[in-house]
Amino acid sequence: MNRTLQNRMRKELCPDGIWQLGATVKTLLKYHIARLPKRKVSEDATRYPKNPAEMRAFLVKFFTRHYFQAQNSLFDYMTSNDFLNLLTSGRLRILDIGCGPAVASLAITDLLACIFEHHKDVDNWPTAETVKITYILNDTSGYCLGSAQRMLSDYFAFSKKHNRGIVHSQTISVQKAFPSNINQLRRVKRNLGTYDIITFSYAIVPLDEDNGLIDLANGVLNIEKLCTPNGRILVLQDKFKAPLMRRLSRAIGTSSHHEELTQHVYPSRNTNETQTYTYCHCLYTPTDK
Ligand SMILES: C[S@@+](CC[C@H](N)C(=O)[O-])C[C@H]1O[C@@H](n2cnc3c(N)ncnc32)[C@H](O)[C@@H]1O
Repeated sequence: MNRTLQNRMRKELCPDGIWQLGATVKTLLKYHIARLPKRKVSEDATRYPKNPAEMRAFLVKFFTRHYFQAQNSLFDYMTSNDFLNLLTSGRLRILDIGCGPAVASLAITDLLACIFEHHKDVDNWPTAETVKITYILNDTSGYCLGSAQRMLSDYFAFSKKHNRGIVHSQTISVQKAFPSNINQLRRVKRNLGTYDIITFSYAIVPLDEDNGLIDLANGVLNIEKLCTPNGRILVLQDKFKAPLMRRLSRAIGTSSHHEELTQHVYPSRNTNETQTYTYCHCLYTPTDK
């Protein structure tokens, strides 16, 4: 764990313990919200958006919540020597299951951009000068996959001047439902290499509802075999689903934890508005189990 790097990054990402968006993601979010129609949509449609008005509601209500929770959950890992050594390959492959508009992928990408911004101040930087990121996006909604691709390419377009260290290499979209898409995910891994970070960010509820816990747990156990040694699997969910998280983590032989996080509210109605959320996460490396 690199303390200097961590301290500098915390100062930028969560000054005084309050998470805030960097300039690129703030612009990206505003830009996408402004282009989507504003209409009243149901609570369920806000959570699982399938058209432009539902996506607008999701971006307003859930985007930053899930985004900061993914960053907070991965912060220690992504500033650890395990991760910095993994970057020496010059490649990073992210598998984002139930990606929605690429929330977890963007959280990881912007955290990596922040690492690159500060690494010059850190002694013995072990990594390559540039890292090419490949995104493997999985969602059953074609609309979400399209949004995810647009969000990622706009992110790189908006951050062109700053992100000298990270390069958008490739995006592969998989629309077949998890876990029945396992053969497709195996094929992608055979062609591109193992997945370095695999995320299930707010995705286990529909997976559990569709096929039940046993299928979901078996799916996660199969995915573990496609993960890079010293890579990580992240499962993220709100506190109301803690019993499901506990049952899933027990079934896959690991454990889940509660976390509390305070963040600025985006889009903001007043500049000082903050909100605190409790959520559950499970982050592990399959080879350590
Ligand atoms: C609550 S959204 C989470 C989006 C994003 N990961 C986040 O953290 O904000 C859940 C997503 O999972 C997708 N989904 C539902 N069932 C799925 C399945 N069997 N395989 C892949 N994605 C699925 C939905 O279409 C939806 O976009």
